[in-house]
Amino acid sequence: MAQAGFNEKVKLNVKDNFDQSCRMYNLFEEKHHFFASLAMKLAESINLKPNSIVLDIGCGNGISAQILNKYFSCRVLGVDLSEKMIESGKLLCDSPDIRLLVGDGEKLADIAGDQVFDYVLYNASIFIFPDVEQTIREAAGCLGTGGKIAFSFYPFLEGYAGEDLLAEAFIRLGEPVPRFRVITDYDKACRALSLHCERVIHHRWVRPLDIEFLQDFFSIPAQSASLFPGRGYEVRRELVCRLFLTLSDLSDKASIVWRMAEGTKAA
Ligand SMILES: C[S@@+](CC[C@H](N)C(=O)[O-])C[C@H]1O[C@@H](n2cnc3c(N)ncnc32)[C@H](O)[C@@H]1O
Repeated sequence: MAQAGFNEKVKLNVKDNFDQSCRMYNLFEEKHHFFASLAMKLAESINLKPNSIVLDIGCGNGISAQILNKYFSCRVLGVDLSEKMIESGKLLCDSPDIRLLVGDGEKLADIAGDQVFDYVLYNASIFIFPDVEQTIREAAGCLGTGGKIAFSFYPFLEGYAGEDLLAEAFIRLGEPVPRFRVITDYDKACRALSLHCERVIHHRWVRPLDIEFLQDFFSIPAQSASLFPGRGYEVRRELVCRLFLTLSDLSDKASIVWRMAEGTKAA
């Protein structure tokens, strides 16, 4: 019971953070086209079939939904906690094959009804879910036979020898390494996936360590909140800029790795 109350509080915080992030999120995407590229990578990695019916959980302002619709002719139902992200998405998505709704990805029964999906995707959202087993259980319940659940994850800044350079950046800055960069870590999300799916497969999208990209990505209010909890936004933004500058000497020896996982619904 106490855990349930805590989880609801976390989600309220997530919703507020993303409500406040909408403008910066759009500006970031206009400059980097990043979430669109990540959605494309995820779809290609899992060999997503054209003309599929997709449930896009944590759809934000519909960037992933638009990619799936435009390049794979998918019909997409997107769900997100943040009213502001959904409002913005409705202005951006003009296809009748995209529907965006405010809702909780941990409570899919009311949203999905008796619709059956070919895929349930989480593009850069699963690490924000406090009850990952619940959302994956419900996602599996919405899938048809042979359907897939797949997600892309939070960035891992990987040094030459596989070391965690985000932790290294905090040490260099002289700030404590945050206890909770993500709410659900990659292994936990994969364990939840394996409870309902067979053949869990992992993918990686490896990009150069781009300092300006990292500064912009973590300047989105919702992203900076987990790195410097308890600080006001302007302070967080300044700390984010300094944090990634500490890695400037490593930019040609390190990578940003976007991990992804997929599973096929067990029969
Ligand atoms: C980083 S954004 C990714 C948005 C989108 N998938 C994209 O590719 O642009 C993460 C989104 O997950 C949403 N989210 C987090 N927890 C959620 C939950 N329990 N139910 C629905 N959406 C959630 C947030 O509100 C946020 O808009």
